[in-house]
Amino acid sequence: MHIFAPCPRGLEELLVNEFNHCGMTQVEQVGGGVRARATQESLYRANLHSRYASRILVRLAVGAYQKEEDLYQMARKIAWHQWFDVSQSFKVSTTAVKSPLRSLDFATLRIKDAVCDRFRADRGGRPNVNTDQPDQRIQLFLTETSATLYIDSSGNPLWQRGYRGAAGAAPLKENLAAGLLALAGWNDTDETGKPVYETFLDPMCGSGTIVIEAAWMRANMAPGLNRRFSCERWLDADRALWTKLRAEARAQIRPMAPQTIFASDMHPGAIAATRRHLEQVGLSDAVTLDQADFIGRGAPATTGLLVSNPPYGVRLSEQEELQAEYPEWGRTLKQQFSGWTAALFTADLELTKGLGLKPRRRFPLKNGALECRLFVIDLVSGFHRKQKPTES
Ligand SMILES: C[S@@+](CC[C@H](N)C(=O)[O-])C[C@H]1O[C@@H](n2cnc3c(N)ncnc32)[C@H](O)[C@@H]1O
Repeated sequence: MHIFAPCPRGLEELLVNEFNHCGMTQVEQVGGGVRARATQESLYRANLHSRYASRILVRLAVGAYQKEEDLYQMARKIAWHQWFDVSQSFKVSTTAVKSPLRSLDFATLRIKDAVCDRFRADRGGRPNVNTDQPDQRIQLFLTETSATLYIDSSGNPLWQRGYRGAAGAAPLKENLAAGLLALAGWNDTDETGKPVYETFLDPMCGSGTIVIEAAWMRANMAPGLNRRFSCERWLDADRALWTKLRAEARAQIRPMAPQTIFASDMHPGAIAATRRHLEQVGLSDAVTLDQADFIGRGAPATTGLLVSNPPYGVRLSEQEELQAEYPEWGRTLKQQFSGWTAALFTADLELTKGLGLKPRRRFPLKNGALECRLFVIDLVSGFHRKQKPTES
């Protein structure tokens, strides 16, 4: 199978490694995603284990097009009834870059018609459309001249790890949070295989997205173990293989050293949300959670990795209010976290200037449409006394 997996921009390399590890072949990165060849097993494995992919799409057809009728003919040729049953609902979505078509909605409608017509011809009936919670998702991707049709093997996007309610969208998508941790070095090991960072802290944890990903990474917990995937309902689904892969993933979970993962936030509502999410994923005992202001909470160990996504004001007045706090955050990092590495994810590209700290690395990333940076700062002992505030 040819697959394409979109991911947050900036995480493509991490995803290439992950897919290679899952047994995919011819893995190559493109802007905003990764292409590869997959077997049924590597496809299942990647859905279960991928921390960085947004979804995994299986390519069913690709070809040139000029008008909607070409798209209809392309979709009509696919034996949809061999993929899913007429009793399952489906949804078609279209994304396009420079498509000459006047209406993408109409293109979507023609694909839907083709799926239904083909089902009627082969099965004497058509599946229902469900735009909210479909059993199967079909994706049309258009460029100026070519059209690609995919079936989505994941279903709900892979950043939905299964512990938030439908309404509980995280401020930070879970796959982006996992990417921030990997870029910051949370998975790095020394020559003996020991993790470079033993202790983790998110001192502005919000609803707990980053700390849950951090704990799962340290525990080697497959992020898809709490959820299901659309490809489990395909007609060729191999239940025994799913059972084997899930059992394998469970057996790979490692115990975590006690008192190594910490999270805090100053707002009681954030603490309540994080506590609820930790309970839902069985991590209440593994994560030490406190309500505390970052200023003055202190470091929980002499060294460690701090990864956080501090508040960012959308309005100018909010931004100015927050910027007034930066020097205090900077002082806290310098005075209370020397020996630590801090990785801060923000849409304020001037954050480190305000903190008076010089980042060792800066990774350009996007949070939705928002241009962001992950600034990685080494807080070496005595470092702050020598450093003058520098341009970032
Ligand atoms: C952008 S949100 C973090 C969202 C989080 N990454 C998530 O996915 O849910 C920023 C958080 O910082 C917290 N915060 C702001 N100033 C703080 C401070 N001085 N000390 C501790 N927490 C603070 C806010 O309460 C908010 O929950």
